[in-house]
Amino acid sequence: MYRDPVSSFLPQPSHPAAIRPLRVGMIGIGTVGAGTFRVLARNQDLIAARAGRGIEVTVVAARNLARAQGIVGEGVALTADPMQVATDPDVDVVVEVAGGTGPARDWVLAAIAHGKHVVTANKALLAVHGPEIFAAASAHGVAVMYEGAVAVSIPIVKALREGLTANRIEWVAGIVNGTTNFILSKMRDEGLDFGDALAQAQALGYAEADPAFDIEGVDAAHKTALLAANAFGMPVRFADAQVEGITALQRLDVACAEQLGFRVKLLGVARRREEGVELRVQPALVPATHLLAQVNGSMNGIMVKADAAGVTMYYGAGAGSEQTASAVIADLVDVARLDGTHAGQRVPHTGFHAHAVRELPVLPRAAVRSAHYLRVPVQATTDIAAVAELLAAQRLPVRQLVLANGPAEAAPQVLVITESALQSAVDLALHALQTSPVVAGPVIALRVETLDD
Ligand code: HSE
Repeated sequence: MYRDPVSSFLPQPSHPAAIRPLRVGMIGIGTVGAGTFRVLARNQDLIAARAGRGIEVTVVAARNLARAQGIVGEGVALTADPMQVATDPDVDVVVEVAGGTGPARDWVLAAIAHGKHVVTANKALLAVHGPEIFAAASAHGVAVMYEGAVAVSIPIVKALREGLTANRIEWVAGIVNGTTNFILSKMRDEGLDFGDALAQAQALGYAEADPAFDIEGVDAAHKTALLAANAFGMPVRFADAQVEGITALQRLDVACAEQLGFRVKLLGVARRREEGVELRVQPALVPATHLLAQVNGSMNGIMVKADAAGVTMYYGAGAGSEQTASAVIADLVDVARLDGTHAGQRVPHTGFHAHAVRELPVLPRAAVRSAHYLRVPVQATTDIAAVAELLAAQRLPVRQLVLANGPAEAAPQVLVITESALQSAVDLALHALQTSPVVAGPVIALRVETLDD
């Protein structure tokens, strides 16, 4: 008998245990929730063929019930009370896509306490409460999945904790915020002002409810902390991350970086050093020829350096409704396959079993080492010699020192690329520059990331 490729993989009636659909309770039906509902409905046969059973949304909690009704149609129960979804005895898995760290924590912990698996795209929640939530889930033998929380469409959590499981990971670095990458690309390519570019990102649904999380680097730090936990087997340590966004970034520095052969990107970096782990988000100069420099618009790109695999790179949409839904549903399919498995044999929450998770020290800012870009406004072009002398006196090794090709009416600018140096040494040199009589304004310093070691 001929069977089409999809239905031939669907569970057969002789296997009743496999046939009961996975019952999903959804908390929140905004951009991500609506996308998840839409993709689940559109691809239901394909998804069931992969999951081995159907996946059905049975109840949704929403703030605006009339709007939610318009999205889910008939046959799905609606409630204004998320706790009702979290504790519903007829729900197998709770999808939390409402966001936030307050009530969302309570809903997720309640769902776990009621023996439900949880799928969430809420990076803030896991960055802040991850250790507590993962411990509760382990104690109750349920899974918490969060592929949609990090670089949405890119299966980077799966890559780190499964695909690269053989490797000692040296670093993970990337562009993990779609909104800021969109803004930086618009500023550079179209000369848009920061505010106009942000408004476009918000209109396209890329930005967080509070866009300060995007532009101040907090959202990228949430994701980088989750990446570090999966890469190094450490707890999620968002509170220790160094976080700097793009609000203070000047268009002049984007142009000067171009002159030197670099692009400015908001990078999340988690790097293992002998003394501890660097965990930081900053606007940084990346060589214009580097693969990460080609990641534009709302796209994300992540590189991982691993001892056996070498450098691998992951690229895809970093924000968006169905783009995030893709990851949420991938987690649901994994949950659908968990029935009958022993909790101890499942993929651990951050890829390392709880007893093997180690507290690694997160390095303070002063102990982080990297090359730097400095922009030094000076009184006259001849002051370039004084800047070179001052940096030599401070023993800050310099790789490149040139004058900016800036507009004639602006003050001359000396541009410097240093060799790799401790932040504490760079700070001392900055202080010396700032107090020098040849310096005509604030000195700007940005990290340079070549990601070649
Ligand atoms: N606001 C986030 C971003 C959404 O722009 O990357 C996806 O996490």
